[in-house]
Amino acid sequence: MTRITFIGHSAIEIQGGGFSVLIDPFISQNPVAVHKPEDFKPDAIILSHGHADHVGDAVALAKKHNCPVVAVFELAGYCGSQGAPKPVGMNTGGVTKFEFGTVHFTQAFHSSSFNGQYMGQPCGIVFTTLDGMKIYHSGDTALFGDMALIGKHGLDVALLPIGSHFTMDPEAAVIAVELLKPKFVIPVHYNTFPPIKQDAQVFKRAVEGRTSSRVIVLSPGESHEF
Ligand code: NI
Ligand code: MN
Repeated sequence: MTRITFIGHSAIEIQGGGFSVLIDPFISQNPVAVHKPEDFKPDAIILSHGHADHVGDAVALAKKHNCPVVAVFELAGYCGSQGAPKPVGMNTGGVTKFEFGTVHFTQAFHSSSFNGQYMGQPCGIVFTTLDGMKIYHSGDTALFGDMALIGKHGLDVALLPIGSHFTMDPEAAVIAVELLKPKFVIPVHYNTFPPIKQDAQVFKRAVEGRTSSRVIVLSPGESHEF
């Protein structure tokens, strides 16, 4: 069993096999989150890129729980410089097996900085659970044709931004689903701030009308078990 909790924005928790993994844990400053950082006991934190709405509480949680922060080389180094005890610097294309699952960084078309400092390439993440479930968290990205290559991994779940302005809009995200062919899609990175207001039900109808993927719309704080 794998449980995905949508914390809000692009922040999720993946639970399974006795492990808790947080991706992009933007919690305490997240205007839509119902959780607090204290609600989580992560065994690992994975970051897609260095923007504040993704790094969030990563360093504080890593210090508190003495857990690794897995990110692109420059961003992991930055987290280490801020006191994260176990930074793991990877890079695009890399695949590393950990005790809590396997992390594969894919490309993303975006930018990545923190307080004006370069944080390396932005990435997407293919996380494979100990049960073999493949979860693609695209990070912030524009649509790109090589999502079809990522889809060749055989994805169970894709978490895709639909907010527009900073990332794909819902129309582009439907094309992303056509390329990725995941079994399930969870829309993220919308309705957190005024510029990224979207209707996820319109996206769900479009995806389910045009593809065989099923869309699971989660409100912040909600979970789904796979
Ligand atoms: Ni961003
Ligand atoms: Mn973002």
